[in-house]
Amino acid sequence: MAATRRPLRLAPSLLSADFADLASAIREAERGGSDAFHLDVMDGHFVPNITFGPSLVRAVRARTRLPLDIHLMISDPLRYLRSFRSAGGDTLVFHVETTDDPATVVRSAHELGAEVGIALRPDTPLDRIDSVLERVDQVLVMSVQPGFSGQAFLPSVLPKIEAARRALDDRNPGADLSVDGGITPETAVPAARAGATFFVCGNSVYGHGSVVENLRSLRSAVLRGSRHAVP
Ligand code: DX5
Ligand code: ZN
Repeated sequence: MAATRRPLRLAPSLLSADFADLASAIREAERGGSDAFHLDVMDGHFVPNITFGPSLVRAVRARTRLPLDIHLMISDPLRYLRSFRSAGGDTLVFHVETTDDPATVVRSAHELGAEVGIALRPDTPLDRIDSVLERVDQVLVMSVQPGFSGQAFLPSVLPKIEAARRALDDRNPGADLSVDGGITPETAVPAARAGATFFVCGNSVYGHGSVVENLRSLRSAVLRGSRHAVP
């Protein structure tokens, strides 16, 4: 089963970059071998913070060919799927806590030609996504409370990542298992060991020093952890 897992990927979160100079943030991450970009959309309702909408996604789309992973921390994802898809989003990730009918959100995003991810807050149990597990392209386990970058990784989510790994290996091995929040060269190791394949990194890429060097350290940590990944 493990052979069909997706390759390990790093996705810098532009929320931690300088919004006045996103073009450089994108260029630097590409130079450092970034595999995708993660864009955090917050509505001031599902989460207390407000960030940006489709127009910023469109501006980023114009600057890179890498896949854009759109993390919708918004209360009514169904209403906005089309706008984020037209703006250039490749994967539309919605929160299971925002809907009683995740199957409809998954189907609608697929009908728009997007990949679909389903996200869980740290305290949301894995069984909440059971009914759509086979149909998604990504499961995103939050390792901080959604809303802000720069928070500390919550090790209490590691058993949930392991459980998601086992469920995906059984039922949907080609889907990404994404971890988001507080990923650093230290925390990436246990996250990779638990079976994550897609690593969202904000502050550890853009918060200090060289973006290229930071991505290099993150990549070696991910590879180190994955060598001992759960079978
Ligand atoms: C938090 C966001 C994360 C965040 C990651 O709500 O979903 O993507 O920006 O930033 P770091 O890596 O700094 O926790
Ligand atoms: Zn995110």
